Amino acid sequence: MRLLVSGGAGFIGSHFVKRLLAAGEDVVVLDKLTYSGNRANLPDGVDLIHGDIAEPADVARAAEGCDAIVNFAAETHVDRSILSAEDFGRTEFRGTQVLLEHIRDSGVRLVQVSTDEVYGDLEAGGSSKESDPLNPSSPYSAAKAAGELLIPAYVRTFGVNASITRGSNTYGPNQYPEKFIPLFVTNALDGAPLPLYGDGRQVRDWLHVEDHCAGIESVLRNGRPGEVYNVGGDNERHNIDVAEKLLELTGADRSLLRRVDDRPGHDRRYSLDTAKLRGLGWEPRIPFDEGLRTTVEWYRDNRAWWEPIKSGEYREYYERQYGERLSTSSPV
Ligand code: NAD
Ligand code: TYD
Repeated sequence: MRLLVSGGAGFIGSHFVKRLLAAGEDVVVLDKLTYSGNRANLPDGVDLIHGDIAEPADVARAAEGCDAIVNFAAETHVDRSILSAEDFGRTEFRGTQVLLEHIRDSGVRLVQVSTDEVYGDLEAGGSSKESDPLNPSSPYSAAKAAGELLIPAYVRTFGVNASITRGSNTYGPNQYPEKFIPLFVTNALDGAPLPLYGDGRQVRDWLHVEDHCAGIESVLRNGRPGEVYNVGGDNERHNIDVAEKLLELTGADRSLLRRVDDRPGHDRRYSLDTAKLRGLGWEPRIPFDEGLRTTVEWYRDNRAWWEPIKSGEYREYYERQYGERLSTSSPV
């Protein structure tokens, strides 16, 4: 199979590229190389086209001769979408539409990588099933929902061969250090504060990146057109408990943990019902304690990967996001 992986230079996409290359597939990557896209995530010699999924000419060039497209390309950080949402609409909605227009008359298979955040807050309990209504809360999750809504419309109207995955919070090596786990790990390794939003009692369902990629591969190979598949870790944790575990694994002092002003509109809890994907033979395999331990080891051993990232644009973003919050923070 010749496969186009859009957004393949990012965190999850690059793990997926390595996985599919190891399975003997022919892979080409299309990536805009935004702040979170990184050539260093990919093995040497990978066919990488620097381009934008929202540009039809870039997609046509990259998708030439491909049998399938797996779309990871997105603006992916909720906090950045609160600071400025513009790029989110363009990549998530317009970009997905360009991909769908490209495959419309071609029979090329598309897997759209979406998120559990499209279901919105599940504070009241229960787990989201694929048939549940979408109720996104943040500009990020609303843009993801808008993009994925095009899929059933193009399946029904044009008969395109496309499926959707909705993954839960993912962690592992090569994750850009703006997200909760890599931010806390790299700050702890540097002796910098760990900014815990609000009461820290929010719940996320953590999934190792290899398990997430295995779920997406399963949908690529065996998923049915027009269907949605949840990919979750069945591993719900309070943020505060994950933070405590990271302090233990990094050996950092507990005084680094700081309570800061909450994120506006912050979803309290996500939870996925994964029975449908388990029906295709998939299940998450990496226990959280083991996955977290090896992830911390990776960041400890790969400062050369993340130290250059934590300068330049990152410092500006960090100051905007955390400067005021940390100056008014309190101990946890
Ligand atoms: P990431 O930010 O590390 O990677 C995103 C990649 O997309 C980067 O390489 C970036 O350069 C590229 N990109 C952005 N805009 C582009 C455009 N217009 N054209 C081409 N490339 C573009 O994010 P990630 O965590 O690897 O997330 C990948 C996908 O998985 C996203 O669609 C995200 O919504 C979804 N997802 C992520 C998580 C998570 O916890 N990280 C959970 C569920 C779903
Ligand atoms: P994040 O990694 O941004 O993923 P998402 O918001 O998409 O779930 O955040 C995970 C959880 O950690 C979320 O409840 C917000 C919280 N969080 C903090 O408490 N402090 C931080 O600095 C960040 C980035 C996140």
